[in-house]
Amino acid sequence: MGPHGVDFGPPTPHINQKRIGTAMKIFLDTADVAEIREYAASGLVDGVTTNPSLAAKTGRDYVESLKEICDIVPGAVSAEVLATDYDGMLKQAAIFTKIAKNIAVKVPLTWDGLKACAALSAQGHMVNVTLCFSPVQAMMAAKAGATFISPFIGRVDDIGEDGLGLIRDIRAIYDNYGFKTQILAASVRHVMHVREAALLGADVATIPTDVFKKLLGHPLTDKGLAAFIADAKKAGVVIKG
Ligand code: G3P
Repeated sequence: MGPHGVDFGPPTPHINQKRIGTAMKIFLDTADVAEIREYAASGLVDGVTTNPSLAAKTGRDYVESLKEICDIVPGAVSAEVLATDYDGMLKQAAIFTKIAKNIAVKVPLTWDGLKACAALSAQGHMVNVTLCFSPVQAMMAAKAGATFISPFIGRVDDIGEDGLGLIRDIRAIYDNYGFKTQILAASVRHVMHVREAALLGADVATIPTDVFKKLLGHPLTDKGLAAFIADAKKAGVVIKG
């Protein structure tokens, strides 16, 4: 049992990542290294997104945490700049990109952010453009060469608008023009967000750990399994090698 009360058994080698990569990728939305280690043992975590608020919750040095996270997961680890001007963003991005090859520099969806996005992606770095709340913002981020666009679906729902509609519109625009930018559904609050994001063709969902552990839960699975085991026990069914 891990420190967060979840038992995925021993760490799973990432042998299935190629196959998993063809489905919607699952990232964890946390900067807590212990939590990431525990959940990544499931073998079903492709990457991680962090942001300044999540980093602040850990009380740890951000860059040190990122170094550890990059070693745990095989895919992109988003590291968000704190600077809001172009030069400052590039300086902080240079610190992040030295950490590991799987760092994705996260920049805000502002003019300076998109300028930094274009410069960083021209240098061959992955870039996650965050705080996206409109389809046109997402189109502009794709034009700037973003690797990932992060529409915040929960926060759109919070103000009485349609967070999943944002994913739908971005998917349509990207498909209209063949943009390769991956749609990363962010601000995911519950399992239905994950289901709908997958149905709408989001490329990635970044999921808080409390939602991640609910992804497999179904009362009929538990009930059915208990019945299988009980029936086998009653009839003395055994599996002989
Ligand atoms: O992925 C972005 C996320 O960290 C924001 O989530 O729940 O604060 O809107 P939330």
